This record gives sequence, C-alpha cells and structure tokens, in this order.
Amino acid sequence: MKHAILKAFVTGTVALATPVSAMAQNDSASQSADIDALIARMTLDEKIGQLVQRMGGRSKSLNSRLGPEELDKVRRGEVGSYLHVAGADALRELQRVAVEESRLGIPLLFSMDVVHGYRTIFPVPLAMAASWDPEVAERHARIAATEASAAGLHWTFAPMVDIARDPRWGRIVEGAGEDAYLGSRMAAAQVLGFQGTDLSAADTIMAGTKHFGAYGAAEGGRDYAGAEVSERAMRETYLAPFRAAAEAGSASYMTAFNALNGVPTTGNEDLLRTMLREEWGWNGLLLSDWRAVEELMAHGVAGTRSDAARLALEASVDMDMVADVYAGDLKEAIKGDPALLPLLDQAVHRILDAKRKLGLFVDPYKYHDAAREAEVILSSDHRAAARDIAERSIVLLKNDGDVLPLAEGAQKIALVGALADDALSQLGSWRAQGRAEDVVTLRAALEAAHHNVVFAPGTDARTDDVTDIPEAVAAAESSDLIVLALGEDYDWSGEARSRSSLELPGRQLALFEALAATGKPLVVVLMGGRPLAIPEVAEKTDAVLETWLLGIESGPAIVDTLFGDNNPGGKLPASFPRTTGQVPVSYDHLPSGRPADPDLSKDTARYMDQPITPLYAFGHGLSYTRFSFGEPSVDRSSIPANGGEVTIALDVTNDGARAGDEVVQLYMRDPVASVSRPVQQLRGFRRVTLQPGETKRVSFTLSADQFALWSREGEWVIEPGEIELMVGSASDDIRGRVSVTIDGTGRGSIAPAAIPTRSKVQ
Ligand code: BGC
Repeated sequence: MKHAILKAFVTGTVALATPVSAMAQNDSASQSADIDALIARMTLDEKIGQLVQRMGGRSKSLNSRLGPEELDKVRRGEVGSYLHVAGADALRELQRVAVEESRLGIPLLFSMDVVHGYRTIFPVPLAMAASWDPEVAERHARIAATEASAAGLHWTFAPMVDIARDPRWGRIVEGAGEDAYLGSRMAAAQVLGFQGTDLSAADTIMAGTKHFGAYGAAEGGRDYAGAEVSERAMRETYLAPFRAAAEAGSASYMTAFNALNGVPTTGNEDLLRTMLREEWGWNGLLLSDWRAVEELMAHGVAGTRSDAARLALEASVDMDMVADVYAGDLKEAIKGDPALLPLLDQAVHRILDAKRKLGLFVDPYKYHDAAREAEVILSSDHRAAARDIAERSIVLLKNDGDVLPLAEGAQKIALVGALADDALSQLGSWRAQGRAEDVVTLRAALEAAHHNVVFAPGTDARTDDVTDIPEAVAAAESSDLIVLALGEDYDWSGEARSRSSLELPGRQLALFEALAATGKPLVVVLMGGRPLAIPEVAEKTDAVLETWLLGIESGPAIVDTLFGDNNPGGKLPASFPRTTGQVPVSYDHLPSGRPADPDLSKDTARYMDQPITPLYAFGHGLSYTRFSFGEPSVDRSSIPANGGEVTIALDVTNDGARAGDEVVQLYMRDPVASVSRPVQQLRGFRRVTLQPGETKRVSFTLSADQFALWSREGEWVIEPGEIELMVGSASDDIRGRVSVTIDGTGRGSIAPAAIPTRSKVQ
C-alpha cells in the first residue's frame, strides 16, 4: 500500500495528547524534515497540484462532478483538496484513487461548509451567539464535527467570525454579531468544538476560520465591497476573533473576498504574511475564498492570471479555492520569477502538514466509516442537543403585562404568518446536509402541543399579495390570542443577501397592522438572520420573541418558550436599530466631543429625527422572571500595569417565581487615555441559572492586558489611570459601577478582546 510508504516519510508521531495549538505552532523538527523529504521528491506540477482545491460537486448536488476526467486529475496529482463532497463510501473511493493510483499517493483533503450543523442543523450562528454561552457554540461544533467526519469530511469552512455592525450585510447571520469580545469567545469555542484536542482523531475536523480580514466592514453593508478601517479598529475589533481562534489552535483560515484599505485581502502580503504569519506566529493552512485569487484581476491589482497567482502566493495564500489560477498559471509566474519557488515549497509544506495533523498519512481512510456514518448522523442525542441549543438562543425582546408565557388551557390560538409553516427557512442559508423534512415547524409543534389552533398564512416575505390578510384577521377575531410569525425567510440573509432596508419584507407590516387592529392579545415571533427595524411592531404588540432561524428543532423550542417550559435567557449579539438610517450601529462607539443628548436644542452627535438609542440594545434580553444585582466590588483598588489582576464580584438574585437564566455582563471604559476610547467595551459575561429566590455570587478576573489599547505608535499599551468597570443585564441596563486604577505603563501582546476573562459562579 502506497500510504505505508508515505508513512515512512511522514511519521505522524505527534503525541495524541498534544494540543492542536501546539501542533500548529511547534512542529517538531523530525515531522518537518519528513515533509521536506516528501517535497523533495515532488515535481513542480505535483507541488502545484497540492495547492489546488476543486469542486467535487455543487453545494446542492454533492459529488456530482467526480467523473472519469476528474479522477484522472487526481491520478496525475493535480488536486490537493475537494469541496462540496460528502459520504463515507464515496469519499473512501476518491481517497483510494489518490492514495493508490497517484505517483506519490498523497491523500486528499475533503471539505464543506459545515457552519451550523451537518445533518442535524442547529440555530444559525447569530442565534447561537444570542445564547451568550460559549458552551453552546462548542457543543454544536463538536456534534457537527462528529457527523461531518463520519461522512468522510476533514475540514469545515467555519467558524465565520466576521464582526458585523451593519445588518444590511446579509452575512451577519453567519457570525456572532457586532462585538469583538463575544465574537472571540464564540470563535474560540467553535474551534475547540470542531478540532477537539486531537485533530488526528477520527471524529474531529479542521476548522477553517473565515473570512480573514475585515469582510464584515464592507462599505454600505454591500457584500464583497471594500472596507476602509483604521488600524486601531482593525486590531481591536475586526481581527480580535481571528486572534482568539488562533489562540484556540485554528489550523486553517480563509481569506476575505474584499479589499481592506485599498488592498484586496487575498493578495495582501502585509496583512497575511507579515501580520498573520510573522507577527502572530501562525503557521496553518491559508485558503482563498471562492475564486478570490482570480478576482485579484477584477479588483484591479493583477493584470493577468499569472500576476494574480504571484500576488496570492507572495501573500502566503496556500490553497486556491476552485479558481484554478494556481493550477493553470502559477507555473508561468514561477518561471518568470524563480524567487517564488521557496514560497511554493512553504505553501506545499503547510498543506501537507495539515494532512499530517489530521492523521491522513497514518491512515488516509480513517474518516470513511459507513457504519459510523449511519449511527451518528441525526441521532436522537444530536436532535436533543439541537432542541436545547435552540431554546438557549431565543431572546425575549418585549413582554408587556407578562402576556408571556401563555397559559396552558382551552384558549383558541390564531397562528398567523407563512414563516410559521416554512420548514426550509429554519435551516438558514448554509445547511450542509440539512433537510426540510427534518424540521419541526412552529405550526407543527403548536398544533401538536395545543389542539385549539387555527393557522392562516396571511402573507409571506416574498410577495406583495394581500388577498389572504382578511382570512388571517377572521382567524384572529375568532380566537383568544394571536401568535404572529414575522420576519425574513432563509433567503433574505446570507452571502450576497445585502439589503438597503431593514424593514419587514413584503406586506408583513400590513398584516401586522391588520392583526393589531383586532385588539386581541398579540405575540410576535420574529424570525430571520439579521436585526430588523421593527418600531411599529415594538410599539403595538404585547410581546416579541426573537427566534432567528433555529434549525430542526425550531418549532418545539418556540412552543416550549411560548408556554413557559423554557424561560428565555438569550441576549442580543447585535443592536436592533429603529430605522435603517441608524446603521452602522454598535454599542461601543466613541464618546464624541458632543455626546448625543436628547435635547434637540443642543448641537450633539445624534439624528434630528430619531431617538439616540437603538430600538433594542446590544445585550438586551428579558426573562419570565426578574433579577436584581447587588453592588459590585473589586478585590483591590489598584493593579500594576505589568502582570496585574483584578477581580470584580457581585451577587445576582432571582426575585421572581420561576427559575431562569441571566447573563451577567461586564463592561469597561477607559475615561482618559492617549486616544479616545469607546463608551463601553464588553470584557466578560456569564450566563447563570437561578432558582426562584436564589442568589449566586458571580466574579470576573481581568488581567491588566485586557485594558490595553492600540496606541498611536502601533503597539498594545496599558496606560496608567482609572478604568471604569460596569456590570449589568444589557449594555443599556447597567446595574453597578466600580473602578480600578492602573499603576505604571505596560505592554500587551494581543487584542484585549481576544483574551478570555475568567469567571466563577458560587
Ligand atoms: C463563501 C465562503 C464559503 C465558500 C465555499 C464562498 O462563496 O464566501 O464563505 O466557504 O464559498 O462554499
């Protein structure tokens, strides 16, 4: 067997207990030498072949392109990796061709966008971020990896960690929202979930953290548009989750499509080679996004395909996703400039090293076990986890007069809105192998739980047709209360799904107004993949439950929440604006010399025609119970800038009659510094469950380097002086303040938002 010969070259002797992060950064000399020996045997074409990722199919017809010509490419060593492929047996056969029938027998890497589940589909990532529970992010990724690896996959293009402050950008659904600290915790947790502590285990897969750069800062929220971002914002905000993912050992990254400060990311040597690799010391596999190498020409920085290949290689992009620019044109670039050859060898080295870390040189077939595939995919345990995670992702935005939870009983419910009956939408924009038939919709779950339900679609997000609205009104009039599903279906958010308006699409507002006019108690179940501007709904309805797109267990999770079997404990990971004109919007803005003042006779940093606040602030989320916060205290009043630590502690009490979860949020502010600092920055959070009347003490320990800023000189500096610490239930609901003084000046080493805060609950 060829792979046995390879095994001799690439020993794969990494101890099983070695953490991935150590493997990613501390290659042992012998493993590296083995890979070098293999590279020494490769022809130029075989080397370039390793850099090539090809489509094995389309995302909705996997494996469909694996015909005889494609297999010949594999035999000739012209392919390093495939995407849009799956299936234990199908991929075992493809791997066999690579291992048995190509000259060197180097195994292939199989990849897919497993973004929020493989077959067991979890809530969309923005929803999972709303759980404010990194354990949720890790657990979902562990299950996704278990299923994907059983289906023959080695690599997912996830987590998506792009910070998004402009909800017009449809890809906000794929990430963790607007905040660098929350985003960092979700990023690290997912990397851990996908990769585990041993990337060579048969049930772990390589994380492909994306889209490196400032993809989410696209101008005007238009997907693929360029971003103009200051170095400080870049370092402190946009790159922080990427840094957290690197710290967690992310073995690969994908580059962003867009240009950053005028330089297209996929050819941005300063950003990729100099910063990510040399400064951060990250040595993993860097993949371009789909045709992004070729698009360097459309960006206007490469005149030819071979120029594009050179720019990407110089920037240290190892693998070219589907453009075939490396495949077709890198050779010419190398012929013109032999100085590229060592760069090619480095790229090949990193790709082979990824294959080694996955254990493929030891056993190239370890991910192809049809029995395991049949056993784990959509198992009842995985479904139960999907339900629990869906419940934890729901956010109660409004609940006037405690209309929720609904009483169990004989009342008649009018369930209105096409989204309540739309199974496909609950899978979100990336659905891997998810199927609509696996989804339990809100309609199905409500009808099963509560027999007295009349359903009327009213209208949907895609039509201007209002003819069914009267039927919905009649259903409402003959019922005791209305549950109205409103929002966006799956195809309104995601890639290339930017909107110029954040209002409810279609004629849903007309439907809402007609139902509100009935005077019946009205509960809105908001669905979709982005914050929406819903001022009319917020004003006229009794209760609003944000349920995003919750995956296969969407319906049961929502019904449990409507009836109080689940007490909602999620919080918003992104601000909800009052109107589209308020975006971009984030809670951590700078103070301005003229801070916004509600008094319009003063000239301040606000709009004339809207209140200064968002409709629902970052961190907002209510519960069916009430929590009170005790006075916070710090264990010391000053700490040294170098190596200092401070612990802030407070009591949190459930004052209501139901058990519930509160997310205790910790914010900081540096009131006087060498540069203007945000009015608030999240630096810690902890989701706690409290029984009625119960009190728990929550503490957070921060190190001085978490107060650092990116200085005017271009360094992480911890400046002397006071730091304000705020604890609360939302960014606009601060319950206590305390401060600590930093003595002296210190140096930080990474983005403060990427550093995890230790927390304890007693
Ligand atoms: C997206 C990536 C995705 C890739 C492969 C691209 O269009 O931007 O996020 O991983 O396609 O499906």
